[in-house]
Amino acid sequence: MKAIYAGSFDPVTLGHLDIIKRAAKIFDTIVVAVLENPNKNCLFTVEERKKHLEIVTSDIKNVEVASFQGLLADFAKEIEADVAIRGLRNAVDFACEQQMHLINGRLNKNIETVFLAADESHISLSSSAVKEVAVFGGNIDFMVPKEIIGFVQEKYMKRGV
Ligand code: PNS
Repeated sequence: MKAIYAGSFDPVTLGHLDIIKRAAKIFDTIVVAVLENPNKNCLFTVEERKKHLEIVTSDIKNVEVASFQGLLADFAKEIEADVAIRGLRNAVDFACEQQMHLINGRLNKNIETVFLAADESHISLSSSAVKEVAVFGGNIDFMVPKEIIGFVQEKYMKRGV
């Protein structure tokens, strides 16, 4: 079975990576898909985010990295994915994800959503929190894969706070 794990990944966190690793044990292929959203002001370009994902998943054989525009339901159809993976940290996530699951199911009858509960060490993590801490020079070691720390710090050094 082929699963899609879509997101902004701006940047990829340890929580995302844990979901990818766990999903890769369940499904034959995982397509990690970066949303190209021109309306969202991202820290990293789509190409940079894809490169980060390729680096951190390089040792997982059944993971592919892609990007898409528009609807997840359409991209899932295009790549013939059977399942959309979503990570859940808490009840707030569930409320949003339930709506997305219901709408995606209406748009693409062949896609099923599978939720994976976040590991307890990742419940507080989000890409937004990474940026909020990094912009003030705080420690992000416990938030992002080690290969990504330098990319985040470099961005803020170039930008200036
Ligand atoms: O990184 P995120 O915010 O968890 O990712 C959310 C994402 C990209 C999976 C979601 O916003 C998405 O699928 N966007 C594409 C548009 C779409 O299909 N929306 C679903 C209808 S509600």
